[in-house]
Amino acid sequence: MKKAPSVGLSSLSKKTYTYINMNPLQRKEYTITSEKEKLLLDTLQKRTDTEAKRLLSYLALPDLTRTPHSPLYAVVQRLLSLPTLKDFDLITIPEIIPSSEVFDLFNFPKDHPARTSSDSYYVEGGYILRPHPSVMWKYYLDLPEVQQKLEENGRLGVMCYGKVYRRDEIDWQHSNVLHQIDGLYIVRKDIQNVVQQDLEAVLLEVAESLFGKNLKSRFSVDHFPYTDPSIEMVISWRDQWVEILGSGIPHPQVIKNLGLDPEVYTGWAFGFGADRLAMLKMQIPDIRLLRSTDERVTRQLTNIDNVYEPVSKYPPVVRDISFVVTDSELNINQYYEMIREVVGDEYVEEVKFLDEYRNAERWGEGRTSYTIRIVYRNLERTLTNEEVDALHSKLMTETEQRYKAAIRK
Ligand code: DAH
Repeated sequence: MKKAPSVGLSSLSKKTYTYINMNPLQRKEYTITSEKEKLLLDTLQKRTDTEAKRLLSYLALPDLTRTPHSPLYAVVQRLLSLPTLKDFDLITIPEIIPSSEVFDLFNFPKDHPARTSSDSYYVEGGYILRPHPSVMWKYYLDLPEVQQKLEENGRLGVMCYGKVYRRDEIDWQHSNVLHQIDGLYIVRKDIQNVVQQDLEAVLLEVAESLFGKNLKSRFSVDHFPYTDPSIEMVISWRDQWVEILGSGIPHPQVIKNLGLDPEVYTGWAFGFGADRLAMLKMQIPDIRLLRSTDERVTRQLTNIDNVYEPVSKYPPVVRDISFVVTDSELNINQYYEMIREVVGDEYVEEVKFLDEYRNAERWGEGRTSYTIRIVYRNLERTLTNEEVDALHSKLMTETEQRYKAAIRK
């Protein structure tokens, strides 16, 4: 086997760097399929419970990073063609994967909240809908061809993008089915001793390719179990700082879990929110617009360099719900999920948590009173009061029944 050239750091001028980096790394595309995923999809289809129906409906949503008229597609294409990333391989991985791969291999502590069913969607037998694409590290590094490439060239780069699934809040920028673009770079330490600035340079290259050279951005410390250090990037957008990604240097323990020697290899990795990038780039004010079928919206979304002009914004209808519930009955993320299911994403713009308080004398021990505000608004038409009343009373009934809650009038 050919030995990779050993290049001392000091002799790494920009030119040699480019030469070694780019030539052997011709982009290749890998698609990983899983028999288990097919079986689990079959079982989901045979199930008649609401959870199964819900999971299938999320899985059936189009992947906007692969939908040519979506701005997410354009964002991905732009990233894939950047000088630093243009030779990176691409990998597509299954959507239903074992939680042991997502969490154990990636160093998530046993009590990490992402492992619970209030954050992640469990399908069956420890399999979940993937909550981020970073798990591709494993699928990629498991490929014999990739291992050989690493041995020969001493470096590798790969990207993976698509839908991810997490139970989450409901507001203009959050959805439970979203899209991320992940990148991973692995290199032998004797070729390049990666430092945080290397990673920051790549992240800037990505952000500037979308938002221009005048972009104001900041890096700050973050925490992810699989990178150390971990950093997040925020950019200045309409006078606020908005987070656009998480990233870091792969954690030595994870490198080891994936079969490489952390004494020998290092690298960097990132995960951009694709919906977020598209929305900020085009100034799209509500994440639901990305899946709109309204021609006045879709027409505008075809060119990522457009600034989105809101089609007339229909008035919101605001209703609060207050209820008292036994603490063990309620999990707030699951409650959000129920709102999505009972009322429907197309009618809810935002759910705000107004207050939460205990009063043993009034409600009894271990019980809490919650007040939650629902902002009802449809993107395409005005909702009537009667319509909203019907949706809201359905929500109250379900809250009473599923959570054994007492509605406060
Ligand atoms: N998956 C993280 C998130 O969804 C972001 C992230 C991606 C962090 C890749 C990283 C990384 O450190 O390497 O928020």
